[in-house]
Amino acid sequence: MSKSINISNSVIRRLPRYYRFLGELEDQQISKISSRELSERMHLTASQIRQDLNCFGGFGQQGYGYNVSELRKEIGRILGVDKHRKTILIGAGNLGTALAVHINFEKSGCSLIGIFDSNKKIVGNPLGKLTITDIDDLEKFCRENKPEVAVLCIPKSVTREIVDRLTELGVRSFWNFSHYDINVEHKNIIVENVHLGDSLLTLSYGVNNNLDNDK
Ligand code: NAI
Repeated sequence: MSKSINISNSVIRRLPRYYRFLGELEDQQISKISSRELSERMHLTASQIRQDLNCFGGFGQQGYGYNVSELRKEIGRILGVDKHRKTILIGAGNLGTALAVHINFEKSGCSLIGIFDSNKKIVGNPLGKLTITDIDDLEKFCRENKPEVAVLCIPKSVTREIVDRLTELGVRSFWNFSHYDINVEHKNIIVENVHLGDSLLTLSYGVNNNLDNDK
């Protein structure tokens, strides 16, 4: 099951959705599912599902379908959900607070170990299970704790400087909510940019063109 080289981005983007759906099936005590049934639930074609899962070596059995738990476990392994990658969050404002409180980092292979901000008025305050740390202590913290992932919830104007500091400290993976395009200046890093506004624009396109999900 180690064919996960050169997988297209669109397949990788669908994996978290498979993982979530299979988790819901597990919660409903459904232990096996055919690709047709899975396709109906997920609004994908059965052949699309087979093609996607074949990229990783295939999981189904002819005439049986998929074993829900095994498939979910395998997709989880591919996604790295059991890795507990040390993660820090920079910017404990509105968005940073919402993510720190509402995102289950552990379920996504990350372990949130530090939260930083430059605003002295909030440094020292509790946030979730952690305490907000002064950004001035970033270097010391990173040398001692060696985080791998950083969540960026800071203004665009300061992001480049923070990313410079973090890459210098060995952080290579960024969940980037700031509107700064990290890839332009920094190489050899892994970035997942999140723009909620883009998602809303996609909805707007659908509304504009009268698309419904079944078309
Ligand atoms: P906010 O102003 O509530 O929080 C920003 C926080 O960053 C503040 O606590 C501030 O003290 C801190 N900060 C500023 N400079 C810093 C530095 N050098 N080091 C450490 N901390 C620093 O803003 P909000 O609403 O939380 O948004 C944060 C960023 O995310 C903004 O750039 C905003 O445009 C962006 N955003 C992006 C969204 C997306 O979908 N990608 C959605 C909403 C906001």
